[in-house]
Amino acid sequence: VVITAGGTREPLDPVRFLGNKSSGKQGVALAEAALAAGAEVILIHAHMDVAPPSNAKLHSVDTALELRAATLSAAAGADVVIMAAAVADFRPSTVSTGKIKKRDDAADPVIKLVRNPDILVEVVAHRAAQNLSQLIVGFAAETGDDEHDARSYAEAKLARKGCDLLVVNEVGPGETGQEKVFGRDGNQVEILARDGAGPVQASGSKRQVADAVVRVVAERLGTT
Ligand code: CTP
Repeated sequence: VVITAGGTREPLDPVRFLGNKSSGKQGVALAEAALAAGAEVILIHAHMDVAPPSNAKLHSVDTALELRAATLSAAAGADVVIMAAAVADFRPSTVSTGKIKKRDDAADPVIKLVRNPDILVEVVAHRAAQNLSQLIVGFAAETGDDEHDARSYAEAKLARKGCDLLVVNEVGPGETGQEKVFGRDGNQVEILARDGAGPVQASGSKRQVADAVVRVVAERLGTT
């Protein structure tokens, strides 16, 4: 089982990067749940606030492009790929070799971004090209807006990405005004399936959510 976790960091110069709020807790919980279920786990992790499990095979990366190379290579031999990492959709188009200086006499700097590849879409395409029997699980952090709720955005994402399962959580401020998911110990998700099964609801600690995801995966592999 290949699991990606954490948040990628896209460098601007030797000391600065564009990052995101991912703590890696959900990805680490997934690795622990898969290990407890008897799987051999490769954990490809970008920046995390928590330690990875020592009994997984670990691969540490910084950027989306590094995560992509490691994931595509590991996916070639995997029965299951779970993409829990928060991948930067864009990276700075150039990386300054020296620290960018603050200069009062110059115009405010503008950071030009270029698109990163969508690794999940590439893993799905790789499975089709190699005719692999592989289960692919995506994650989606969604917010609703005036036009659509988080679930409809998630259903559109599942169709767009082509993975088998999409684990959806609604992010952003909850009723108390505090962030609901990022960095927190609990989670509440819906596991949507491309074949229309479910959806399965899971909530509790990130480990309990991970156990629920692993259970759905194991049922689909016929290993329960
Ligand atoms: N993902 C990926 N490569 C990217 C961006 C995202 O593989 N460049 C994966 C994530 O690991 C996750 C899934 O795609 O499993 C959904 O990520 P999300 O950020 O919710 O989706 P985006 O395609 O970036 O869509 P949005 O426009 O909502 O940001």
